[in-house]
Amino acid sequence: MPTPSPSSLTPFDAERARELRASIERHNHLYYVLDAPQISDAAYDALFRELEALEREHPDLADPNSPTRRVGGRPAAAFVSRPHRQRMYSLDNALTEQEWLAFAERVEKLLPGQEVDYFADPKFDGLAMELIYEQGRFTAALTRGDGETGEDITANMRTVRNIPMELGAHAARSGLAAPELIEVRGEVVMAKRDFHALNERQMEDGAKVFANPRNAAAGSARQLDPRITAARPLKFYAYGLGETRFAAGARGFAGQREAMDALRGYGFAVAPEGRLAKAAEIYAYFLELGRRREQLPFEIDGLVVKVDRLDFQAELGFTARSPRWAIALKFPARQAQTKLAAIEVQVGRTGVVTPVAILEPVSVGGVTVGRATLHNEDEIRAKDVRPGDTVVVQRAGDVIPEVVGPVLDKRPQGLAAFVFPATCPACASPLTRLPDEAAWRCLNLACPAVGKQHIAYFASKSGLDIQGLGRRWIEILADKGLARSPADLFELTREDLLGLERMGEKLAGNFIAQIEEAKSRASLAKLIGALGIRLVGTQTAKTLAGYFTDLDALGRATAEELLKLNENGQLHDIGPAIAASVAAFFANPQNRDLLVRFKAAGLWPLGGQAKISSGTSGQGGESGGPVAGKTFLFTGALDGLPRSQAQAMVEAAGGSVAASVSKNLDYLVAGEAPGSKLAKAEKLGVAVLNQAQFLELFKAPKTGPTALGRGSLLDF
Ligand code: IVH
Repeated sequence: MPTPSPSSLTPFDAERARELRASIERHNHLYYVLDAPQISDAAYDALFRELEALEREHPDLADPNSPTRRVGGRPAAAFVSRPHRQRMYSLDNALTEQEWLAFAERVEKLLPGQEVDYFADPKFDGLAMELIYEQGRFTAALTRGDGETGEDITANMRTVRNIPMELGAHAARSGLAAPELIEVRGEVVMAKRDFHALNERQMEDGAKVFANPRNAAAGSARQLDPRITAARPLKFYAYGLGETRFAAGARGFAGQREAMDALRGYGFAVAPEGRLAKAAEIYAYFLELGRRREQLPFEIDGLVVKVDRLDFQAELGFTARSPRWAIALKFPARQAQTKLAAIEVQVGRTGVVTPVAILEPVSVGGVTVGRATLHNEDEIRAKDVRPGDTVVVQRAGDVIPEVVGPVLDKRPQGLAAFVFPATCPACASPLTRLPDEAAWRCLNLACPAVGKQHIAYFASKSGLDIQGLGRRWIEILADKGLARSPADLFELTREDLLGLERMGEKLAGNFIAQIEEAKSRASLAKLIGALGIRLVGTQTAKTLAGYFTDLDALGRATAEELLKLNENGQLHDIGPAIAASVAAFFANPQNRDLLVRFKAAGLWPLGGQAKISSGTSGQGGESGGPVAGKTFLFTGALDGLPRSQAQAMVEAAGGSVAASVSKNLDYLVAGEAPGSKLAKAEKLGVAVLNQAQFLELFKAPKTGPTALGRGSLLDF
């Protein structure tokens, strides 16, 4: 580290760094913990970049807990072990109501004459973790390890955005004092949606796919390179405490419930499902949670029930492996055995060929399972599953059913191992396995299977969202030769469609209308996203559309130019892999042909730069317009303007949409029959717009007398 030069650092710089860090941490908390952001991504980025610049200029401001460090530091050679101050125990299980009641009876016998309340919260299925805070600052993170000693993964946990780095400001806002020492225990998890998205990305990159969210969370948390952890969507949920030490005179926590409320106040995410209950009420809650299980964003495998009062917990103590004051009520396993009839391979939109287990249909936890992904060739080999085997199938939450492994006792003599096909099942081209990839790919650009998947993605919610054009119709259109690529959709005629089975006048008309509708609705960001360019998701598509005028302009950019724009700060989060992928997509003549045909069909939305510079487009610009940097929220119905479209207008013009009313909201747009948000906004003095006033913002010139500041709207 360079020697600090005291003259270069003014007290103002230090104060500004403190301010920026506090502000960024608050917005992280609003975004990642409360799910209620109050500023736009652009405004957040501006704070972040100012802090980065300040830290770059003054290395002596360095702080390992600075939000700028959340991107991950240098890779480690190995993890260092470190003892826990207090052992991390396991939990005993109860599988039936009788077992639960027997536990409660034992507890109450050990606490004679006492009224016992229980605190019950979901049993997260992830990786147990201990986070240590000294004087309110995050200082270490340890895995559970063997309970006595864990692995130090501090650098990795710093990248988990919903873990607070400093407790002081959160605590002060919640009217609490931060303890001198607190060890917060909880689980590192991955939301089911994030898990699916991660696996999809991994699959497209030919990288390792994870069997379930727990493996994905544990694997991501235990990376030697914290930058990999930083790129994984991990979350931490707090459920308990290790050692705590409060300042002299300060009171500790009396119960589990109170401790959880305090942790929430310190800025941690805590499951909202936690409940205080009597022994007789617990089992009903367990059953209720079991029914809600699928709807929860995270995988849970049961309910953990704890004696609430901490003095009772101390009195009850521990057995050799688990506390006498807590127990896990586990949901029944969702596994079953069935015959693996065959292994088929299917071709995805990027040409990746995925093996699929074709199973004799079997009920797994109430759902009939007939197919399960086997991910890739290595996975089949590692599990050693062979067509003809009896296999164990399991389902965890809403996760795609998976084949756990073969039941070797039931394997017929001489059963042959599966041989991965050498050619594409759809077009018979030879398959290629790229270096460092687990996936085989069909590289034939004209492969009909790839084309079908491409159209399906293009028409799906992730793409242009063409209503009514589901997979079944895409199969039919492709098989009849009517649609081989997304551009064909815009050339379909009523006559083409009427030639198809089960297609009547009305349906054909609807199809054409829906395709037209999707075309007129498409923004450049949507269209870029719909192309299914490898590594280009919704967010990246938005970034690109915010800069480039149209697909031609984007298509002309070389990988080097994209990287340069990223370095200049004109495009964010475009790394070398994305830049190369974008450039490769547009270098492909078939894809170029697609663009020509989109333009001819009138599918040619314009992007951010065009909107800013053209002035005639009638849109507020990304920068400087009355919408840029402003936060909006909608209530009630707008006339002829779907809320999603209104929100898209705001975002396209550089504004952002908040999740709830707060005093940081710039405008509440109230339509027909507004909800309770209106009263709240009025109380907080937030400017309220009607539909006409809202639309007016988009017509206003970039600068000038109609540029509206907060409050000036009240004059309308
Ligand atoms: S309390 C003394 N609460 O379950 C142990 N544990 O089988 C007290 N777990 O490794 C633990 N969710 O990681 C508790 N809401 C919850 C939990 C939970 C998941 C895990 C924990 C532990 C395992 C014990």
